[in-house]
Amino acid sequence: MAWVERRASGEPLAYLVGEAEFRGRVFAVSPAVLIPRPETEVLIDLALARLRGLTAPRVLDLGTGSGIVAISLALECPAAAVVAVDLSPVAISVARANSARLGAPVDFREGDWFAPVAGQRFDLIVANPPYVAAGDPHLRRDGLPFEPQLALTAGADGLACIRRIVAGAPDHLQAGGWLLFEHGHDQGTASRNLLTAAGFKAAATFSDLAGSDRVSTAFFQSGAIMSDVQQRIHSTVTSNPVVLYMKGDARFPQCGFSATSVQILRACGVSDLVTVNVLADEEIRSGIKEYANWPTIPQLYINGEFIGGCDIMKEMYQSGELQQLLEGVTQT
Ligand SMILES: C[S@@+](CC[C@H](N)C(=O)[O-])C[C@H]1O[C@@H](n2cnc3c(N)ncnc32)[C@H](O)[C@@H]1O
Repeated sequence: MAWVERRASGEPLAYLVGEAEFRGRVFAVSPAVLIPRPETEVLIDLALARLRGLTAPRVLDLGTGSGIVAISLALECPAAAVVAVDLSPVAISVARANSARLGAPVDFREGDWFAPVAGQRFDLIVANPPYVAAGDPHLRRDGLPFEPQLALTAGADGLACIRRIVAGAPDHLQAGGWLLFEHGHDQGTASRNLLTAAGFKAAATFSDLAGSDRVSTAFFQSGAIMSDVQQRIHSTVTSNPVVLYMKGDARFPQCGFSATSVQILRACGVSDLVTVNVLADEEIRSGIKEYANWPTIPQLYINGEFIGGCDIMKEMYQSGELQQLLEGVTQT
C-alpha cells in the first residue's frame, strides 16, 4: 500500500522497485540517478557503429549516472577500454555496483566532466548530459520532480553542459576521434553549430524511434586543417576572453542586433570586449559564418567557446546565465 501511495503521488515505478531495464539488461537505480530512457539506445547504436573495426579503442562516457552507456558499450564492444565520469559520488557507487553485477569492466571516476581524465585522449567520447532548460514546464510532470536536478537541468537554454563538453572534447580526442551526445528534440541545430564552431567535422543529428532529433555526432581532425581565415578567427577567439564579431564597432554599431549585443555585454560589466568589424573585412565576414556554422551576425565567443547571436545573448542575460558565464572573465 505504501508503494501504491508513492506511485499515486507520481513517483516513478523504477524508484519503487529499485531497478530499470535498458537494452535487455536490468540496472539498479536509486533517486540519485536518472532512470534509463529508451531514447539513449540511439546513442549506443551510433557509438558501436563508430567503434566497429577499431582494435583497442579508448572510450569515455561523460555523466554516466547509473552507468548504462559505459556498461552497455563495455559489454557490446569488449575490445574497448571504457572510462566513465560523474560529478555525483552516489551515482558513481550505483554505477560501480551495476558494472560489478553485470560483469562489465569500466573504470569509474568521480569529478567534473573532463577533470578526472586530464591529459588523456580517447577514440570516442559519448555523453548523455543534462539538457533540459531550467524553467521547462516538463520538469514539473511525468515523474521528473523525483529525479535528480543535477541529471536534468543545464542552464536557461539547456545547452550549458553540452557547451562545456563540446569545448573540452578536442583536447581529449585522438585525431579523427568522435564525439557523440544526446540532446533535446529542439537542440539539433544548436548542437551542430556548437560542434562546427569548435572545429569538429561532419556534424550530423540523428533521430530517436519517435522521430525526434536526439543525438548529434562529429569527429575532430585537428586545427591544422583550418583555412587561413579560420586560423585567424580561431586565434582571435582563443587569445581574448570576450570577442564579438559584429557590424561596426562597440562605439558605432552598424546594426540593431550588434548594438544590443554590445549593450548587453556592457551591462554584464565586460570591460575588455574585443570586437571585430565584419563589414571591414570581407574574408572574415564569410569565414566567421563557416567557422561557427551560424547564419547571423553578431556572434559572441567567451574563452574561445561560441555562445550565439543576439537572441541567445538576450535570453541568457535575462536568466542571469550570461553574467554567470562571464564571472571570472576579466571585467570591471
Ligand atoms: C542525463 S543524466 C545521464 C545518466 C546516464 N548516462 C543515462 O544515460 O541514463 C546526466 C548525468 O550527468 C551528471 N553530471 C551533471 N553535471 C556533471 C558534471 N559537471 N560533471 C560530470 N557529470 C555531471 C549527472 O550527475 C547525471 O548522472
